[in-house]
Amino acid sequence: MRLWAYSELSDRGHARYGDTFTVRPGMLPPGVLTRDRDAIRRLFTGDPLGKRHGNDILRNFVGGQSLLMLEPPEHLARRKLVLPPFHGERVQSYARLMQQLVSGELDRIQPGETVAIHPIAQSLTLDVILQAVLGVSDATVRRRLRAIFDALNTPLNAVALFVPVLARRSRWNLLSKRPWRLKDELDALLFEHIAATRAEGAAVERDDILAMLVSARDENGDGLTDAQLRDELITLITAGHETTATAIAWGVELLLHNPAAMANARDGGDAYLDATVKEILRIRSPIPIGAARYTLEPFTIGPWRIPRDVAVLVDAHGVHHDPSIYPQPDEFRPERFLEKPPDGYAFLPFGGGAHRCLGASLAMLEMKMFLGEIITRLELAPLSASLARAVPRGPTLAPRGGARVRVLARRSPARVAADASPPEPSLM
Ligand code: HEM
Repeated sequence: MRLWAYSELSDRGHARYGDTFTVRPGMLPPGVLTRDRDAIRRLFTGDPLGKRHGNDILRNFVGGQSLLMLEPPEHLARRKLVLPPFHGERVQSYARLMQQLVSGELDRIQPGETVAIHPIAQSLTLDVILQAVLGVSDATVRRRLRAIFDALNTPLNAVALFVPVLARRSRWNLLSKRPWRLKDELDALLFEHIAATRAEGAAVERDDILAMLVSARDENGDGLTDAQLRDELITLITAGHETTATAIAWGVELLLHNPAAMANARDGGDAYLDATVKEILRIRSPIPIGAARYTLEPFTIGPWRIPRDVAVLVDAHGVHHDPSIYPQPDEFRPERFLEKPPDGYAFLPFGGGAHRCLGASLAMLEMKMFLGEIITRLELAPLSASLARAVPRGPTLAPRGGARVRVLARRSPARVAADASPPEPSLM
């Protein structure tokens, strides 16, 4: 079995060993993969002091002051500061920006072309972060930031930055020289942008998330330092860009291979589009391991007693493909979310508990806006009769080939206008 074929590992492992089994992933220490929902509930709702977060591999890149790195009680305090701008209703105000971005991108595509959806989605989701989250209005700075992220976003650079022994900074380490230089340039640009945002203060009206974070204060009246803001911005870019782009690429791939769902997603209104987005996230979660927590004390899962200091991996893919929760789990059927919405621990694309994804509402809105526009404006055909295989891209599992499609035609503007209805805030 290819170890990276995560879905295979999860499906076969559960079929053979049940809900919980030990995995030994290459160079990393063994961990326990589980889809046991009672254990997941306890991990997510239990005393967070007992569940050390398992994101250490990202520390080099996102920085030690990032939400992804903080432990309680600092983590909770930081979430209180950072969360308000990500609230579902607040996030809806970015719908217009998303519409403009996707229109511009789709106008460039001509009938007869073959295009890969993944890079288009990457460009769109990065633009959302740069404009809605960072509020970078200067197109030159946006271009530079985009170039840095594009350059960093290669498998070799990911290895050089995230594999602990390779990521060490020294002049002998040639592999990580270039990614570290790019990271230094990124830091410098972000510090400049933070300073400019502070200097603007209330003088310039901005509705991006950074502008809100700069003025956020805790109960003692303290705000975030520049270093904390820099780490949070890198975290938001890293966590929010590739994940959402991957979900959109899977969305197009899945809809093209399921014509009935495609027709309903186009014509079935906002509720069906919402259910479609959830079904995409269920059947192809961009991050198939929804969360990793280390045990600080022995932890019981079913008949097993897990010793302390072991990584418990919440198998979102496993939960999403458990036939006792989702009958015929390999069928793409958005209706299941309309008929019987799953309970809190059966739908885990965004993890859960104290570390649940901060950008879930933003990601859902992006998926609805971008997918909705792509499928109503373009008539597309898949290049292959079967669904693309999943391949790893950093921490995500993406469609092989980048979801390549043939553009058959533009759909008529009258049809597009008739279909169009603004998305409702999602209940996620
Ligand atoms: C479809 C797209 C996305 C998926 C599948 C996704 C998934 C996840 C997952 C699985 C986690 C870990 C949760 C845990 O440990 O319990 C997470 C955390 C996080 N995500 Fe997302 N995410 C997406 C989009 C976004 C976006 C758009 C943003 C922001 C712009 C974002 C920001 C974050 C942050 C800041 C965290 C860390 C939260 C914390 O540790 O307190 N994500 N995400």
